[in-house]
Amino acid sequence: MAFKVGLLGLGTVGTGTAQILLDPAGRHPLLKELEIHRVGVRSPDKPRAVQFPEGVLTADLEAIVSDREIEIVVELIGGLEPARSLILQAIAHGKHVVTANKAVIARHGAEIFTAANEKGVYVMLEASVGGGIPVIQPLKQSLGANRIQSVTGIVNGTTNYILTRMQREGADFGEVLADAQQLGYAEADPTADVDGLDAADKIAILASLAFGGRIDRDRVYAEGIRKVSAADISYAEKLGFTIKLLAIAKRERQNPEHSEDRLQLRVHPTLVPKTHPLASIDGVYNAIFIEGDPIGQVMFYGPGAGAGPTASAVVADLLNVAAVLKTETEPIPHPLIGCSHQHYCSIA
Ligand code: NDP
Ligand code: HSE
Repeated sequence: MAFKVGLLGLGTVGTGTAQILLDPAGRHPLLKELEIHRVGVRSPDKPRAVQFPEGVLTADLEAIVSDREIEIVVELIGGLEPARSLILQAIAHGKHVVTANKAVIARHGAEIFTAANEKGVYVMLEASVGGGIPVIQPLKQSLGANRIQSVTGIVNGTTNYILTRMQREGADFGEVLADAQQLGYAEADPTADVDGLDAADKIAILASLAFGGRIDRDRVYAEGIRKVSAADISYAEKLGFTIKLLAIAKRERQNPEHSEDRLQLRVHPTLVPKTHPLASIDGVYNAIFIEGDPIGQVMFYGPGAGAGPTASAVVADLLNVAAVLKTETEPIPHPLIGCSHQHYCSIA
């Protein structure tokens, strides 16, 4: 039984996702059951790194989200519109949705999840924060026992890449940004990266998961890295600090008489002591440092942007949805076979 997937977007992340789906050998066995049925793009005639049979590529994205054969829609076009409307239409047609779009989730998550709950479909967003780092699912499930005190992250790969190159090479801001764009790290409009707006979207998502409830994205303070100079970085270094763009969500007790806590939500360049684990996160890498009770401190680390890492998270979501759909009909085959009483297993 194949699960038909409708892919919206075949840019950096869409291409990475298609490449995994078209080359399932040696990966999770369920991948072989995910089939790209249609792909929606702006310009179907543009040259592509992946090839599809005639008729798969289309500029009619509404036809994809209403296609009766498609069970899962993967939204990788980015931006607020038409992404929001397409996601809502897909849900209305009973499709499960996987998205990497933090902007649309941070701003319209409540509307999207309400619609999904009413329709009984999944909306998955692992790739929306931290690129390839598994953090959404762990925060929702594995850390569920904890009362979270703070979530502090380097959650924008582009700005961390820029700051790292400025620190190492005294490089010029504009030149390094161009490199980040070329490498596929930056947003279509890199202002979102440079001005801290992308990180603000991501901390809004993490905070809603960590602390529960709805976060008003407009209330996240956002200041980017435009004003950080190579001289600032060099002085910070001499004082024992590294400058990082941090996204912070922190529980704060108002005063002893108030039983309700408040939440600080902010994104800004920060002097991080070199002894702190976040100080050593360089280049496009991201890290999310979480403090909770009873776990104490835990940090998630990995590549925060780029085609392959982000596609890894997108496909993980696809596999999770496929696994649930599959268990409704038949048990999932275990990825390892023939290892019941052996040290070495043959792998599928
Ligand atoms: P790209 O700009 O590389 O690709 C966007 C794709 O969507 C293109 O294929 C484009 O078509 C298509 N598209 C855009 N707008 C429309 C439209 N209105 N109608 C039809 N097709 C459209 O984006 P990315 O792949 O970099 O990003 C996709 C999503 O993933 C975004 O939400 C981004 O924030 C998120 N993300 C990106 C990461 C990264 O490292 N790049 C990491 C984590 C998340 P065409 O090819 O014809 O131009
Ligand atoms: N533009 C984003 C970044 C992509 O640089 O982190 C990953 O979300």
